[in-house]
Amino acid sequence: MGKEPLVSSMAELKRKQQVKKKSKSCGFESLNLSPNVFRGIKRKGYRVPTPIQRKTMPLILAGIDVVAMARTGSGKTAAFLLPMLEKLKQHLPQSGVRALILSPTRDLALQTLKFTKELGRFTDLRISLLVGGDRMESQFEDLSQNPDIIIATPGRLMHHLSEIDDMSLKTVEYVVFDEADSLFGMGFAEQLHKILTQLSENRQTLLFSATLPSALAEFAKAGLRDPQLVRLDVDTKISPDLKTVFFTLRQEEKYAALIYLIRDHISTDQQTLIFVSTKHHVEFLNVLFREEGIKPSVCYGDMDQDARKIHVSRFRARKTMLLIVTDVAARGIDIPLLDNVINWDFPPKPKIFVHRVGRVARAGRTGTAFSFVTSEDMPYLLDLHLFLSKPVKAAPTEEEVLQDIDGVMNKIDQAFANGETVYGRFPQTVLDLVSDRVREIIDSSAELTSLQKACTNAFRLYTKTKPSPAKESIKRVKDLPCEGLHPIFKNVLEGGELMALAFSERSWSVG
Ligand SMILES: Nc1ncnc2c1ncn2[C@@H]1O[C@H](COP(=O)(O)OP(=O)(O)OP(=O)(O)O)[C@@H](O)[C@H]1O
Ligand SMILES: [Mg+2]
Repeated sequence: MGKEPLVSSMAELKRKQQVKKKSKSCGFESLNLSPNVFRGIKRKGYRVPTPIQRKTMPLILAGIDVVAMARTGSGKTAAFLLPMLEKLKQHLPQSGVRALILSPTRDLALQTLKFTKELGRFTDLRISLLVGGDRMESQFEDLSQNPDIIIATPGRLMHHLSEIDDMSLKTVEYVVFDEADSLFGMGFAEQLHKILTQLSENRQTLLFSATLPSALAEFAKAGLRDPQLVRLDVDTKISPDLKTVFFTLRQEEKYAALIYLIRDHISTDQQTLIFVSTKHHVEFLNVLFREEGIKPSVCYGDMDQDARKIHVSRFRARKTMLLIVTDVAARGIDIPLLDNVINWDFPPKPKIFVHRVGRVARAGRTGTAFSFVTSEDMPYLLDLHLFLSKPVKAAPTEEEVLQDIDGVMNKIDQAFANGETVYGRFPQTVLDLVSDRVREIIDSSAELTSLQKACTNAFRLYTKTKPSPAKESIKRVKDLPCEGLHPIFKNVLEGGELMALAFSERSWSVG
């Protein structure tokens, strides 16, 4: 044995490893897709399927109904588009619509259309996009061209079904409910009911989302037949490549904190998506940033459809570095080079948090999600961590840091390494400094002053209608210790400054 020539056995080993590697990495090849679909995948730049694609595509290709849950940014879109392209193959003028993809928002439907065109660029399949905001007439025209695929939001599709007498979905063989938990939630009940009654019983049905209930019974209405449930990443609902940062502050300090983050903390070559609770907040921040010399893009529900498209595409093209949005952009939107999400208003539903922050750290990239947490939001922060099964703790106070700086820093590093959340305050000195400038800008602009009033009123209404946190969480908040500065400021506040701050902050909080 020892006499075997080393070089040849090494070469043999290497060859075997290469064969093994090749057979492992030829994921898309092993699906036996038609050349036109395969070329689309290569052109889009995908080399190997993602885990959810590997698990679901063979099932879908075999005609099985699938309910699939996988983390945000894990590649669910291609998992349902590729088998669809494979099944439809080519344009058939006489067959009627054969595939239907439903999305909860126009922006997501538009993005899915773009994905479909890219992946299907070597097929001649025709696609019709039916979303609100666009003219019905041009959509009628589109429908008269015998599309093979309809991508729609439920409201507009229902509108078409009621307007066009001979419009039928009976020919549809392949139905996708993307963001299924949202589509089957409260808001869409009526539209979904109408659409489902129009579908043939022989169709294949697919449900996708990053957040699905474990009980399939919740989707009884979807008319699934012996569905196969595929749930990946059940324990880690948010990507391990995502850094979450929670700042405690007061409502009126948010402007200063936001401007500081954008101006001084986040580097200028990074793009940031800012979530606010109402369209008035979108408008307010839009004007405020412009006064500051920064031009953001904006997007909210009842914004003019063309303006909405222009704003989002400018951001996608990196012509603007900020996009300020309401929750219309929380689900599904894929902006590959996005680096940061900021939750200006803390989302009251944990699911919404997961979808919002899931706009970053997609497809193997890293990203950061900053969240502002007021004292009213604290119970929601606890609820969120129950949902994520993650421990959450207060940053050590300045006194604790001064007593044993190394010990405390070690503990913080340990907590982060264990995936725990550490929340902490924004430095008061920073807030005070920026707040004064923001105050001046607002006071000297009639537009901002009136927008601010609209925000206050809208926020009151929003607060009234949002779900309440768990009673237990409200109770637990009362026992939380005082939190210190957030650890991300540890580099900003070296030694002496920290000491001075410890005293000034203490006198501030007592006074
Ligand atoms: N096999 C692949 N190889 C490389 N990149 C991929 C692959 N599959 C998908 N991607 C890319 O990963 C990104 C995220 O994909 P996608 O938008 O489908 O995620 P998702 O799971 O639907 O997320 P969400 O829950 O937020 O909707 C996209 O930019 C997509 O082009
Ligand atoms: Mg998606």
